[in-house]
Amino acid sequence: MSKVPGPWLAKFTDAWFFYHLFAGDVGPTLRQLHHLYGPLVRTGPNTVTAVSLQDQDLVIKSHKYLKDTTGNEITNLMGIPNVFSTIDPDVHMRLRRMTNPTFIPSVMKKTEVDIREGLSAVYERINLEANNSKPINVLSFYRMVTLDVLGIACFGKTFGCMETGKPHPYLEDMDAWLVQVALRAALPPVLYHLVGKLPIPSIRFIYEADARICSYSNDLIAKHRAERDQEHDPTDMIGHMRLSIDPVTRESMSDRLITGNLGIYLFAGTDTTAIALMFITWELARGDDIYSKLRKELEAAMPDADSLLTYQELTELPYLSAVIREGLRRYAPAVAIFNRVIPEEGAWHDGMFLPGGTKIGIPSPVMHYNESIFPNPMTFQPERWLKKGADVALMNEQSMPFGGGVRMCQGRPLAEMELWLVVAMIVRRYKLKSAASTTAESMEDISKLSRMPKSGRCDIIFEEYI
Ligand code: HEM
Repeated sequence: MSKVPGPWLAKFTDAWFFYHLFAGDVGPTLRQLHHLYGPLVRTGPNTVTAVSLQDQDLVIKSHKYLKDTTGNEITNLMGIPNVFSTIDPDVHMRLRRMTNPTFIPSVMKKTEVDIREGLSAVYERINLEANNSKPINVLSFYRMVTLDVLGIACFGKTFGCMETGKPHPYLEDMDAWLVQVALRAALPPVLYHLVGKLPIPSIRFIYEADARICSYSNDLIAKHRAERDQEHDPTDMIGHMRLSIDPVTRESMSDRLITGNLGIYLFAGTDTTAIALMFITWELARGDDIYSKLRKELEAAMPDADSLLTYQELTELPYLSAVIREGLRRYAPAVAIFNRVIPEEGAWHDGMFLPGGTKIGIPSPVMHYNESIFPNPMTFQPERWLKKGADVALMNEQSMPFGGGVRMCQGRPLAEMELWLVVAMIVRRYKLKSAASTTAESMEDISKLSRMPKSGRCDIIFEEYI
C-alpha cells in the first residue's frame, strides 16, 4: 500500500476523505489526484480509488470483491438485511432472486399502465402550480413525482403528493435516514451511540428515522394483506414479495424481510431519479438548441400531446434517449463511492499489489469525465451518444450511473421507464425556462453522497403550449 500514490494525509487517516466528502468536493479532488498520479490513488490508510476499465471490470463484475459497508452493514433498516446492504454473496443472490420478479420486463409492462395513469396527475399539478408563470422548484417537485411512482410500483397506489401538492412526511424521514447512515459511517460506534443519547429533538428525529420508515412499511404490508389477500397475479412489489419463495429454504419471504426491502426501494428510487430529472430539466431549460431538437422529435412522434407513446416506443427515439443518457453521465445522481474489498489473497491493480482487505472504489465522478472518452466532459452534449459503433460501446462501458456487474442497480428498469416517460411528457407539453434564481452558479455541484446543486433547488418556469 505504501507505494500507492496519494495525498500525504490519506496515509494516516480517513479524515482526509471525510473532510472532502462533507465539503462537497470529493469529485473534483479525485479528478485532480487521478490526473496527477494515474489510475490508482490512495484515499485513506486502507482505501484506494481506481479508474481504469480493467479495474472496473475486476472490482464490480463478480462477487469476488465483496461489497464493503463500513460499520457493519450500515444501510440495514432496523437490522433487517436488504438487497442493497447484504454482503454475503449467497444471501444477496437469494434476496435478489426473491425480489427480481418485480423488475422483469413482462411485469414492468403491467406496472407501466398504472404508472402512466398516475403520471397524468403531474400535468394537473404543474398547471396549478405554474399558474401565471410562477416557477416550480423541480427538485422538490420531482421528489414528489418519484415517490408517487414508487408508491404505485410498491403497493399499487401513489403517496398522494401530486393530488395534494404537498410532500409526504416520508420524504423528510428519508432525508433524516440519510444523515443517520452518514453518521454511522463517519463516527466510531461508541461515539455514534453516545450522540444518540443526547436529549436533543433534532438528533432524536435523525436517530429514529429507520424505525419510522420500517413502521410505515409495516403498515403498508398489513394494509396490502387486508385488502388484497386473494390476489394471485400481483403487479406491485409487495404482492410479488408476498409470493416469493427463498430458493434455498423454500420458505416465503417474511413480513420483516419485505419491510426492510420495501424501505430500501423507496429510499434508493426516490431522490436518485428525481435528481436526474432535475438536472435534465435544467439543461433543457437553459439552452434553446437541445430543447428545440428534442421537442421536434417528440412532436413528430406524438402529434397529439395527450397520447404519450409507450416506454418501449420512447426508447426508440434517438434524441430523447441521447438526452437521458447524457443526463445520467453528466449528472449521475449517485456520486457516493460504493467500495469493494480486495479478496484475502490480495490482487494486482495498475502494476501494484494491494493486500487483501484493502478497500477499493471506482468513482463515477472520475469515470464519467474522462476527457479521452467524453471530450469536453463538463458540457452537456447529447449528440455524443448519437455516434455509431465502438465509441458508443466504450462510452457505455465508462458510464456507470447504475453501477454494474452483480450489484448493478436493481431498480434500473423502473428508473429508466420513469425518466423516459417524464421527460417526454414534460417536453411535449411545456416550454421550459429557468427562473432568474436558477443560474449556472446556483446549480454548481456540491455533491456529497448524492449529487446536489449549491442552492439546493432548481426553479423552472413551465409554459403550456396551447
Ligand atoms: C436514476 C435512478 C437511479 C440511480 C442513478 C441508481 C443508482 C444505483 C447505483 C449506482 C447502485 C449500485 C451501488 C453499488 O455499486 O453497490 C444502485 C444499487 C441499487 N439500486 Fe439504484 N439507482 C436508481 C434508481 C433505483 C430505483 C428506482 C430502485 C428501486 C425501486 C433502486 C434500487 C436499488 C437497489 C435495491 C440497489 C442494490 C442492488 C444490489 O446491491 O444488488 N435504484 N443504484
